[in-house]
Amino acid sequence: MKRKMKVGILTGGGDCPGLNAVIRAVAKKLIIENNSEIIGIKDGYEGLISNYYKKLDYSDVSGILTLGGTILGTSNIANPYRQAVKVGNKTIMKDVSKKVIQNIKRKKLDCIVCIGGDGTLSIASRLCKDGIPVVGVPKTIDNDIRGTDVTFGFDTAVSIATEGIDRIHTTAQSHHRVMLVEVMGRTAGWIALHSGIAGGGDIILLPEIPFEVDKIAAVLKNRYKRGNKFSIIVVSEGAKPKGGKVVVKRMVKESTIAERLGGISMVLGRQLEEKTGLEARAVIMGHLLRGGSPTSTDRVLATQLGTAAADFVMKNNFGIMAGVKGSSIAAVSLEEVAKGAKLVKANNDLVSAARSVGTSFGD
Ligand code: F6P
Repeated sequence: MKRKMKVGILTGGGDCPGLNAVIRAVAKKLIIENNSEIIGIKDGYEGLISNYYKKLDYSDVSGILTLGGTILGTSNIANPYRQAVKVGNKTIMKDVSKKVIQNIKRKKLDCIVCIGGDGTLSIASRLCKDGIPVVGVPKTIDNDIRGTDVTFGFDTAVSIATEGIDRIHTTAQSHHRVMLVEVMGRTAGWIALHSGIAGGGDIILLPEIPFEVDKIAAVLKNRYKRGNKFSIIVVSEGAKPKGGKVVVKRMVKESTIAERLGGISMVLGRQLEEKTGLEARAVIMGHLLRGGSPTSTDRVLATQLGTAAADFVMKNNFGIMAGVKGSSIAAVSLEEVAKGAKLVKANNDLVSAARSVGTSFGD
């Protein structure tokens, strides 16, 4: 009789709504159609480094479709190729990939499904080159992964950001204020662009289109003169002035990308108050965009991507991730993902559409 396949599954990097829906889809399909044994790897790559596992039976992945976060836990610092290790009272970065590969073999995992963003999937790509059969599923609220039109988690983040902007709108109107709503996205402006359009932001600031403070001030003053005594600015955390720098909230040294962004709305708000004399207030949405239950769109996408990943596993098709191309699910090489982030181009159709309805990008 054919040996039961033993499949490991992990979630890595920052969490996002829909992770549990993917875990459920991968595990259920592999259990139902392939009689596989599913091993949950805890806390992302940390689980492979330190041997933290949890067997996942059918009942463990039932009832988690709508649940936020990840039942497996995650880590955005664990990295087999660059792991923070304490030596005395010093922390050094060490390549522990050989140990990880040994651990995978000892646990007799036939393959691993890695659900994560560009960092997690780039590591998955390296593991694959080092002989570990891997299938990826792209996740992130930022929607910045190459090789896929969209990632699960993005729709939920945009919905929450839009609701936030809607709520800010009414209070901005009442108090005749300039309100800045800062959203996550790292170096990609997708969340700001989509929620800014959906929420009717007067000014949208993206990392990809550096702004000029004087131009933003002029837009605000013109609106005021025209009788619009309030304004909404949707600003991506990675937005920066022409020739200037991003605002860094904290450094996480152990992380591959150490900078954690945040605070541009506060800095810019103060500058705009000085330049316009209008009262400006800032709201940072931050991790609110990553929490809670996924939207129906993300639940459907997570189920499609998860079952596609399970299909690749059953066909022994490794070194790829399940991506979205147009209206289909496609196999995309993990090497493609490792080439860098998918950013908003200046000539993006949505940027043009927003400009056409009078939205300023501060440039
Ligand atoms: O990549 C997802 C994301 O939420 C980014 O939008 C944000 O810059 C970053 O993660 C925040 O990371 P952390 O949870 O470590 O603060």
